[in-house]
Amino acid sequence: MPRDTNKLLYDLRDLTILVVDDQADVRNGLKRLIGTLGCEVLTAASAEQALEVLQNEYFDIIFTDLKMDGMSGVDLMHRVKQQFPEIEVVMITGHGTIEIAVSCLQSGASHFITKPFDNKEILSFIKNAGYKILSRQHAQHNQSKYASRDIVAIDPSMREVMELIEQVAPSKVPVLIEGASGTGKELIAREIHNRSRVSEKPFLAINCIALPDTLLESELFGYKKGAFTGAHKDTKGLFEQVGGGTIFLDEVASMSMMFQGKLLRVLQEKVIRPLGTGETVAVDFRLIAATNKNLEELVADGRFREDLLYRLQVMKIELPKLKDRTACIPALAEHILQRAAREIMDPGETCPSFSRAAIDALIEHNWPGNVRELENTIQRALIVCKGEKIQPSHLGFSKNLNLASDLFDEFDSYENEKQKAIESFQKVYIQKALQRTGGNISRAAELCDLTRAAFQRIMRKLNIESVKSKEKV
Ligand SMILES: Nc1ncnc2c1ncn2[C@@H]1O[C@H](COP(=O)(O)OP(=O)(O)OP(=O)(O)O)[C@@H](O)[C@H]1O
Ligand SMILES: [Mg+2]
Repeated sequence: MPRDTNKLLYDLRDLTILVVDDQADVRNGLKRLIGTLGCEVLTAASAEQALEVLQNEYFDIIFTDLKMDGMSGVDLMHRVKQQFPEIEVVMITGHGTIEIAVSCLQSGASHFITKPFDNKEILSFIKNAGYKILSRQHAQHNQSKYASRDIVAIDPSMREVMELIEQVAPSKVPVLIEGASGTGKELIAREIHNRSRVSEKPFLAINCIALPDTLLESELFGYKKGAFTGAHKDTKGLFEQVGGGTIFLDEVASMSMMFQGKLLRVLQEKVIRPLGTGETVAVDFRLIAATNKNLEELVADGRFREDLLYRLQVMKIELPKLKDRTACIPALAEHILQRAAREIMDPGETCPSFSRAAIDALIEHNWPGNVRELENTIQRALIVCKGEKIQPSHLGFSKNLNLASDLFDEFDSYENEKQKAIESFQKVYIQKALQRTGGNISRAAELCDLTRAAFQRIMRKLNIESVKSKEKV
């Protein structure tokens, strides 16, 4: 199960689904099952009734029986697709033959399911289609109120951030962005600038980390020729160069207490004194600061000036960790994949897409490095993936057996899929047993309650070596 299921379900609640079947027990059964996701589910007893309901209601997904009295499921699908091409239609069939499946998919169905239902498969389909629908709605939404081409903000916590940006951008008040490494602090700072009244003016960024006071001072305040060795000519500091635009002070927590005092004076008086001069120069700027530390804790420890903190955080934006906004992950992954494909792939090459199992794995991962780590993971996956689908194995996570989601990724015959699932289970299971016993086959067999011969048979079949001892099997 994805870690942050509540947030995912919260979004799925926005989906509306129609179930069309002439058998009441099938209709009601599906309605109950889908209802567990929190989606709104309506039912219709015939294709004709469904078309009537569609006059007044919009649906994201329609599940329809193939064979019904009157209009068939396929005809209903054609009518729906003509009018609402973006609605996903899932065909319900009594007999799961390959021919029926192929013809359903060819005529525009997103998926088909066979009776008796596999509940897990149905729920998994809705979650997957749901995220696509939400990404699409997000893109449409982005064209309107919170227009941003670059920021993915589907999770409610990120929508709040976007609203704050909207409110704060037009004013000139200082903003403090707090967030762990890789959560998008610089991206948000640029967004505030781009939406401000000074978007035509410069956005100048400086990272305070590892800059000694003297360098920070000369960079920000500028200097007169001869102010120090190497000062060959008068140079304007960033506060002057920015000329009414935005200064982005990254990693503010790294500033020394002494420099914090100097910065505070600039914020209060809006004047600077370039190094090597006695004169003051009036400056005009908007300040955005960022930190991955908790500045209040630093204040309590006596390592950050309280008065400066109050000046910086007239408005504070806290960026959630990626693991706390899992609803954003599928859309972020897609966004990053497209960007990476433009950078890495040759024109004309087809960009692979994510398998459902890969998306599940991305949602379940812990992401200590946040969006930046997600970016690295996807760039790597794009390089190692040679096929059309990015699979969990391309993500470079430690191997976790994810039977349920791996199974339904591609539809092979039931027997073949079952065999594959058994083999991948055996492989992980046997390897784990060998790891536990330091490669000792007899003890591993004992641990699994198998005879040594049976254990070795599986090892041979799957080409598993006892890594540590290289014991012959
Ligand atoms: N919500 C988002 N939507 C799209 N891309 C994002 C989002 N958040 C972050 N990114 C991308 O993730 C990468 C890291 O973002 P950014 O550099 O702004 O993070 P940061 O918090 O400043 O990181 P660091 O602490 O490492 O300096 C960037 O390439 C950025 O475009
Ligand atoms: Mg940064």
